Amino acid sequence: MDDFTPDVLISEEEIAIRVEALGKAITEEFEGEELTVICVLKGAFMFCSDLLKQINLPVKLEFIALSSYGDGTNSSGNVKLEMDLSGSIAGKNVLVVEDIVDTGLTIKTLTEMLNVRNPKTLKLASLLFKPTRNEHPAKIDYLGFEIEDKFVIGYGLDYAGRYRELPYVGVLNAGN
Ligand code: PRP
Repeated sequence: MDDFTPDVLISEEEIAIRVEALGKAITEEFEGEELTVICVLKGAFMFCSDLLKQINLPVKLEFIALSSYGDGTNSSGNVKLEMDLSGSIAGKNVLVVEDIVDTGLTIKTLTEMLNVRNPKTLKLASLLFKPTRNEHPAKIDYLGFEIEDKFVIGYGLDYAGRYRELPYVGVLNAGN
């Protein structure tokens, strides 16, 4: 497999500063309450891990795995549940943690799936948002960065399964 050297779009330091601020805001909003954090696999694993370290609340961590299928030209793919939560979210304060909201189909599907389980509150944190590609508007309560329509990798995001381990958000430039 070829290895590319990505250009840095959002540095490790910029991410750390933003994640700390998001964690502080979440802590303030839910002060005195318990929070159930749902990490959406695989892409959100690194953001969720760092965000949790900045949330000063009693937290229960859940994982859910979704995969989206499109035909490559038509963005109206569908989203398949690969792995469900291990516990109930009924009556709980729930924070969904995503790496990116792109077309918005994944978060729309997930929100519908979770709302019927009657959480007390349902909020969304996403590291990245691509407004130019968004087709299904979703309220991102805690947003890291709005980005242009570039193919981003690193900090959990992959290209053909690779590059998730990078500590920054990068782009594969045309030259490599
Ligand atoms: C990515 C990402 C989001 C979704 C966003 O997941 O993690 O869940 O796409 O795209 P959308 O807004 O257009 O739905 P992907 O299906 O690539 O799986 P992964 O997280 O395992 O990489």
